Amino acid sequence: MVLEFGDGYRLRRANSADHAAFNLVCLRTGDSGKDATAREDDPDLLGLIYATPYQVLAPDFAFAVEGPEGVSGYVLGTPDSATFYQRYQREWLTPLATRVRDPGGDESRWRGSDWARRAIHHPEIVYPPVLQAYPAHGHIDLLEAARGRGIGRAALEHLMGRLRDAGAPGMHLQVSPKNRNALRFYEKLGFGEVRGSELPRHTVFMARSL
Ligand SMILES: CC(C)(COP(=O)(O)OP(=O)(O)OC[C@H]1O[C@@H](n2cnc3c(N)ncnc32)[C@H](O)[C@@H]1OP(=O)(O)O)[C@@H](O)C(=O)NCCC(=O)NCCS
Repeated sequence: MVLEFGDGYRLRRANSADHAAFNLVCLRTGDSGKDATAREDDPDLLGLIYATPYQVLAPDFAFAVEGPEGVSGYVLGTPDSATFYQRYQREWLTPLATRVRDPGGDESRWRGSDWARRAIHHPEIVYPPVLQAYPAHGHIDLLEAARGRGIGRAALEHLMGRLRDAGAPGMHLQVSPKNRNALRFYEKLGFGEVRGSELPRHTVFMARSL
């Protein structure tokens, strides 16, 4: 499966050879859509939390955006968040935690990527009843050169089609409230904010039916 976008950009199924590039894209978009390179002391942890596990655990819903200079983005998802999160904890985070030290719970002592190390040992998995009408979830990140060309819309619509074909009646996404560009983008794609007392305040939850 390949979707051509022109100017050398295309969407294709992702594979395990994409993991290093996905970790880099995740790093370069990981500060509310901006480059997090200066903040992190381990360049791979963001991708190991938010990107690579989707290719491993839900490969039918993992797509790479390739550009003239190589992989320049991804769109990733799962039709069934409950099952995904169970496997993510057991098969991904538990082994990963054996390779990463826990910096402890005192945030004032955290430096560099300690927040990510803590998240690997104590993940915040958010999937309360208010989100369960939208059981699919996903992530999309594009490097700067790939943005503003309609690729985000085409890639996310492709993923939504695959999730719908897999039986998911709805999809949700998490967004930093600081990431105004992504919030506008998701609104354009038909997502609206979900609110609820069970949802943490530091993240915006966007959802739509499929
Ligand atoms: C957010 C992101 C995925 C959008 O992808 P994109 O390819 O730039 O978006 P597109 O060009 O496909 O735009 C799709 C639509 O959204 C609109 N849109 C995109 N960004 C917008 C913005 N900042 N404000 C208003 N509308 C916006 C476009 O006008 C377009 O509308 P149309 O299709 O009705 O004409 C991409 O910019 C990105 O990866 N940003 C950095 C990483 C990030 O923030 N990821 C999301 C983390 S939650």
